Amino acid sequence: MCGIVGFTGKHEAQDILLAGLARLEYRGYDSAGIAFFKDNGDHISMRKTAGKVKDLAAICDEENNSTCGIGHTRWATHGGVTNANAHPHRVGSVVLIHNGIIENYHELVSEYGLQKDLVSETDTEVAAALFNKMYNGDPIETIKKTVPLFVGSFAFCIMFKSHPGEIYAVRNVSPMVAAFTEKDGAFIASDLTAFVDYSKDYFIVPEYHILRMTQDRIELTDLEGKEVKPEYLKVDWDVSAAEKEGYDHFMIKEIHEQPNAIIRTIGGRIHGDLPDFKDDGVSDDFFEGVRDITIIACGTAMYAGMVGRTFIQNKFGIPVNVAIASEFRYERPVITDETMVIVISQSGETIDSLEALRLARKYTKKTLAIVNVKGSSIARESDAVLYTHAGPEIAVASTKAYSVQVAMMYLIGCKLGLVSGRTTEAEMKEFMADLKKVPDIIKSMLTIESKVDKLTSRMTNAEHAFYIGRELDYTLSMEGALKLKEISYIHAEAYAAGELKHGTIALIDEGVPVIAIASQSDVYSKVISNIREVKARGAYVILISKDAKITDESVCDVHLQIPKVRDELAVFASVVICQMIAYYTSIGKGLNPDQPRNLAKSVTVE
Ligand code: G6P
Repeated sequence: MCGIVGFTGKHEAQDILLAGLARLEYRGYDSAGIAFFKDNGDHISMRKTAGKVKDLAAICDEENNSTCGIGHTRWATHGGVTNANAHPHRVGSVVLIHNGIIENYHELVSEYGLQKDLVSETDTEVAAALFNKMYNGDPIETIKKTVPLFVGSFAFCIMFKSHPGEIYAVRNVSPMVAAFTEKDGAFIASDLTAFVDYSKDYFIVPEYHILRMTQDRIELTDLEGKEVKPEYLKVDWDVSAAEKEGYDHFMIKEIHEQPNAIIRTIGGRIHGDLPDFKDDGVSDDFFEGVRDITIIACGTAMYAGMVGRTFIQNKFGIPVNVAIASEFRYERPVITDETMVIVISQSGETIDSLEALRLARKYTKKTLAIVNVKGSSIARESDAVLYTHAGPEIAVASTKAYSVQVAMMYLIGCKLGLVSGRTTEAEMKEFMADLKKVPDIIKSMLTIESKVDKLTSRMTNAEHAFYIGRELDYTLSMEGALKLKEISYIHAEAYAAGELKHGTIALIDEGVPVIAIASQSDVYSKVISNIREVKARGAYVILISKDAKITDESVCDVHLQIPKVRDELAVFASVVICQMIAYYTSIGKGLNPDQPRNLAKSVTVE
């Protein structure tokens, strides 16, 4: 939700800010703006507009010699998409950008008499007005006094008139990382993709600490004024990972990255042909005494959890509950100290998942995070963390993150099965040998990309689509339907194939696309019967199965064959097809799959 970037240093800031914002557009793309010290003097100039970063670039001066500035790309929460609501916001001596939500902004307006300062409808402008009201010429003292007055989440980058060349930052919950290099200067951003071209070393700005950036240094202090040494981390992926590298969109690039992402996730975690997390610092003791599991997540991560649930429960008989993070927070938790709570999150910053984790930690010391972004809040606050190492995922619609999360759930399930004596080493060795074949399974599916592209011409005019399957295929269908909804705006629903006849089949009409997934051997013939039921009512059926012999037109219109792999691993093949169906349907409709309307990748508002 909203991307922020700041730079002060030895180069012109505008180019760095615009390039950084383009990298952060996945966080929001309805308005954009920059502010900078004009000619490096006292005066702060702004350019902002409703629209994308390219629209902002169009209103920026071609030459801009300022070496200090801040930039923002917005995902609207308070106030519509207008020029006035775009960031930065200026009130008096203060210009700032913000990611997060100030929940008590109404109260602050009346308590501090700020109404006369406001020209927008945003909570952010109220924050700017409050900083300005408190401003006594000393930025650090002003921030110290003002920050405790805010209720909510925030990452602020602030510039104060009369302090040219300086950027101040402070945060609570909303992410912010920073770096300093002698050669270039000081950088700050919501995510390091914004400045990874300049520095592979970075640190996470600690919550409720004040960062002061100048062209020669970065100073970090706590709210008491005590100096704190930043804890630097190193990026473990290459700059090219944040580029499209010849692909039309990040989404299709990330679909193609799945084989390597899986190798990075499972490689190093299979030792002696058995799952092993010792290199992650997670010993077998952590998996001992687990009576049941609660998985908490949002969106695609939650659907990966659903697959994990079916896998673990069916294979090992361990009870697993999957909770939507935003609901879990307000339900009575049915967890005990024998419950393992697994929080799955690509970004590690989704606020509902983070708050759910904090709640779960009151009940159990076995919280385990499956996270992609190193050092993120969920990773830091869990008892144990397993990083998925998928590299940066930039497209809003999650693809490679899902596959690696499912692979990680399989490894965790197998470890729990072994530790609890519910399976044997021999059985797990066979399973691990097959799991290692997943990258090749995915590669083989990528070869049918053009076939999938062609068949989606039948999908582009659809208003509704249905995804059906049983067991693991049903859980997978939910992710398939979500992908289509997110980027093609076609209403799509997933149904357990056996449940259709209890209502939903009434919606099946001539030409309605049904994506039927039939990879689970024990229910194969039952799913085929369910498919015939929808086919007989005119559905346009795309069947995904391992069956090489399907030629029967009464079963489907198109058959996409997946390799004959063991049932548990078929999801990795089927999901690639679902991802490609969604991608090419979106393209066929003339949409931009990387930037679907109303969505943002990292949801840091509740
Ligand atoms: C947003 C994104 C989804 C993502 C979900 C959870 O809704 O658009 O793609 O699955 O958040 O994000 P997380 O970073 O916690 O996995």
